[in-house]
Amino acid sequence: MAATTAFPTARTEIAGQTIADLVGQYGTPLYVYDQNVIDQRIEQLKSFDVIRYAQKASSNIAILERMRRRGVVVDAVSAGEIHRAMKAGYQGGPGSHEIVYTADIFDRQALEMCVDHRLHVNCGSPDMISQIGNRLPGCEITLRINPGFGHGHSQKTNTGGDGSKHGIWHSQINDCLLRADQNGVTVTGLHMHIGSGTDLEHLGQVGAAMESAAREVGRTLKTISAGGGLPVPYKDDESYVDIEKYFQIWDDTRNRLSESFGHRLQLEIEPGRFLSAESGYLIAEVRAVKKVGDNLFVLVDAGFNDLARPVMYGAYHPISVCSIKGNAAAREEVPTIVGGPLCESGDIFTQREGGFVESRMLPTVGVGDYLILENAGAYGFVMASNYNSKLRPAEVLIEDGSAKLIRQRETMDDLTRGEIIPD
Ligand code: LLP
Repeated sequence: MAATTAFPTARTEIAGQTIADLVGQYGTPLYVYDQNVIDQRIEQLKSFDVIRYAQKASSNIAILERMRRRGVVVDAVSAGEIHRAMKAGYQGGPGSHEIVYTADIFDRQALEMCVDHRLHVNCGSPDMISQIGNRLPGCEITLRINPGFGHGHSQKTNTGGDGSKHGIWHSQINDCLLRADQNGVTVTGLHMHIGSGTDLEHLGQVGAAMESAAREVGRTLKTISAGGGLPVPYKDDESYVDIEKYFQIWDDTRNRLSESFGHRLQLEIEPGRFLSAESGYLIAEVRAVKKVGDNLFVLVDAGFNDLARPVMYGAYHPISVCSIKGNAAAREEVPTIVGGPLCESGDIFTQREGGFVESRMLPTVGVGDYLILENAGAYGFVMASNYNSKLRPAEVLIEDGSAKLIRQRETMDDLTRGEIIPD
């Protein structure tokens, strides 16, 4: 795969479908996913024994169903994600690892669902070991270990070190094995996930940390999980990690452990972003173009209620333009600040971490043109909200040359569903 990507600043189609047709049929704001991209990313990870999709990245049941048909299993971090996985056809049951519940707590509903459906549990806190042991004595569990370091594209996506709430602290493995024993459960899996959007250097260090943790657990181990965190490029100068090198680090770790334990360990990977980010686009219509001092603001009908990553992390999403008249690629590029419709100053797609607003060189646009926020397939729709009473957008999947609606745009009735005006 190419080390870097050149993002276009103009486009007329997505995966063979014209943007004019897509918005004509489904309106805006609109999430569009290209199944081919997901399929390519799955293919790239095929050397791992198990690909476990971190569905928090993009959890529409149509996407999950396609994952299942391709042999990809899932994790679930909540009762709702267990429900989604089951709607998509994944099953629990003794010994089944199709759905693994990975979290730092059981809320009561999630615990009930894990018990009812006999899900394999990945415990991120020691308390979870006794909670599941009390309900399912004899079951097998995984421990999520915080190796004492972490890394991510933002401090908010760093999930290791002593400032993180995630996982069981690495020096407490023995205590946890004891606790497991007292509660009649067996530790058969170990898992580490140090952060989201990290790099090969940090991801590689996890292999060594896993090796020493695994030796503490010993021969009951059947599976080790490398977690997720694989980055995707969001800017022209960013790159992927070398998947072959990454696999090699983990395969070597697995092989050494398998040799010591006398049986072959399964090697899992648990990506979210890598599988789904580049498949997704958020299309928005330009509704106002105005000068504020020397700055040019282009305001579109999608806001941080639709795509929260820029306001939350200062995350950069490539933006391209589709014009209704003529060819956007031929237009002069001008410094542009892109914002949304919300009554909040932070509703800006072109900003850096810390809220610093930036201009981006984009083809000149007018009202009625479309902006496409690219690489929006991971942590896009799933983080959407109804803030400012905006309706959450529709989602469309493009596969086999056609566009298929996989989630209807919300309606005004959806917006107030469940609300009650007492007498
Ligand atoms: N496994 C566990 C236990 C996780 O907590 C996560 C992500 C993943 C796997 C998948 O990580 P990925 O491969 O996608 O990097 N909303 C943030 C990302 C939060 C990630 C949370 N956990 C963002 O938009 O960047």
